[in-house]
Amino acid sequence: MNALRLGVNIDHVATLRQARYTGMPGSHNCEPDVVVAALACERAGAHGITVHLRADRRHIQDEDVFRLRKSLTTKLNLEMGNTPEILEIALRIQPEDVCLVPENRREVTTEGGLDVVLQFDALAPTAKRLNAAGIRISPFIEPDAAQIDASVALGAHSVELHTGAFANTLGEAHQRELARIREAAAYAHGRGLQVNAGHGINYTNIAEIREVPHLSELNIGHSIVCRAIFVGLEAAVAEMLAAMQKK
Ligand code: PXP
Repeated sequence: MNALRLGVNIDHVATLRQARYTGMPGSHNCEPDVVVAALACERAGAHGITVHLRADRRHIQDEDVFRLRKSLTTKLNLEMGNTPEILEIALRIQPEDVCLVPENRREVTTEGGLDVVLQFDALAPTAKRLNAAGIRISPFIEPDAAQIDASVALGAHSVELHTGAFANTLGEAHQRELARIREAAAYAHGRGLQVNAGHGINYTNIAEIREVPHLSELNIGHSIVCRAIFVGLEAAVAEMLAAMQKK
């Protein structure tokens, strides 16, 4: 029994498609098809599928999310920036979970956590509408007590702890980041939140992340899609699920 659950982020399947087909009509039907990819992840045992519908639509397209909603048998976790346009789409799609993320047009991928403390007033109406629609919200935050408290005040069901700093450091700095994640996970759990984590988790650093108490779900994308190039997506997901087992 695997206590930790895996949400596979398939944004980079769409990145590969957009590298060839951006701007073509009906490009969501081009290869590689994100729905085919999502179903392969589910067959391999993934517990959910995560996609980020960015304002600039650089990878996932609106039609992808609607097709995923119809096809998934696990659950859909929609990552979104706090914009009115994407909020309306989320309310139409009704994903099980929404992960609220910061979004900056020039970033290569999501950098840094959402500052729920600073942006509380702007986030509160969005959180209220999502909660009223029965969609669980999970801010993507730095592993920090003040961000966790603000997430509780926002009515969050979960938080996703940003593991990017942990993934991008070595030596002492890496150990400090791991300790921050451990502390934040315990604190968030104590405040009644489900604790998820994601960003930069790979087949190596998973050995440290899987031992962090109180984690429920990991959202992993880039490393799995990279591995899939060599072994196929189902095998890549199965390998990650095996690596997530505590030793
Ligand atoms: N979780 C969130 C909120 C993210 O923004 C991302 C990156 O899109 C991930 C998880 C997955 O990160 P990675 O692709 O590095 O595994």
